[in-house]
Amino acid sequence: MYDKEKIIPGLIVFVLIAVFPILYNRGNAGHIPNPEKPKAARECVRPVQDMRESHMQLLIDWRTDVIRDNGARYATAAGGTRYARSLQLGCMKCHDSKRKFCDECHNYAAVKPYCWDCHIEPKENM
Ligand code: HEC
Ligand code: HEC
Ligand code: HEC
Repeated sequence: MYDKEKIIPGLIVFVLIAVFPILYNRGNAGHIPNPEKPKAARECVRPVQDMRESHMQLLIDWRTDVIRDNGARYATAAGGTRYARSLQLGCMKCHDSKRKFCDECHNYAAVKPYCWDCHIEPKENM
């Protein structure tokens, strides 16, 4: 009933195809994002874990608050660092390379924020 001569080679081929990506990469998960830390600043505007998880929402909140509700343009972080609640004049003043910081993660996560259609990214010094 079972056709061993076809099933066994068929299985071998299937297993080879299934493990090929693993063998090919030698078990390496690929490039892990490594965003470059600012040199001139020691603290972010919020605790780092919060920033990792919800910087997108923070940016949108700043925009709404500053632009629509006439909120404060400046604020102070927990350790006393004064910063502008602004993408260009805030985030990018400390994180001065979009390529080495924002893009590191965004390329990995395959997100492309449209903010840069209007906001100007810092000049990269290669
Ligand atoms: C006053 C300077 C400063 C400003 C302004 C600032 N950051 Fe940061 N940010 C830092 C520093 C310094 C760190 C690293 C802190 C640490 O490792 O303890 C950091 C860490 C982060 C991290 C975590 C990175 C990682 O390695 O996982 C993210 C994400 C981030 N910032 C995004 C932003 C965004 C988005 C803005 C604007 C909404 C912003 N930051 C504004 C200084 C700043
Ligand atoms: C530690 C990794 C990391 C760093 C550094 C980082 N981001 Fe992100 N960012 C993400 C991830 C992951 C997402 C997607 C989150 C989601 O979809 O829930 C995201 C999403 C966003 C979004 C929303 C985009 C969308 O289409 O929904 C904005 C805006 C954004 N990031 C701005 C920034 C800016 C500006 C910087 C640099 C100052 C930055 N991020 C740095 C990981 C990072
Ligand atoms: C269609 C053009 C456009 C796009 C796209 C855009 N912005 Fe803006 N944004 C503006 C303008 C114009 C202002 C007003 C500048 C001012 O008055 O300071 C502004 C202001 C802001 C502000 C507050 C003040 C400041 O100086 O930064 C934040 C924060 C902000 N935008 C974040 C974002 C983020 C995050 C994205 C992407 C998710 C984004 N913007 C996409 C045009 C744009």
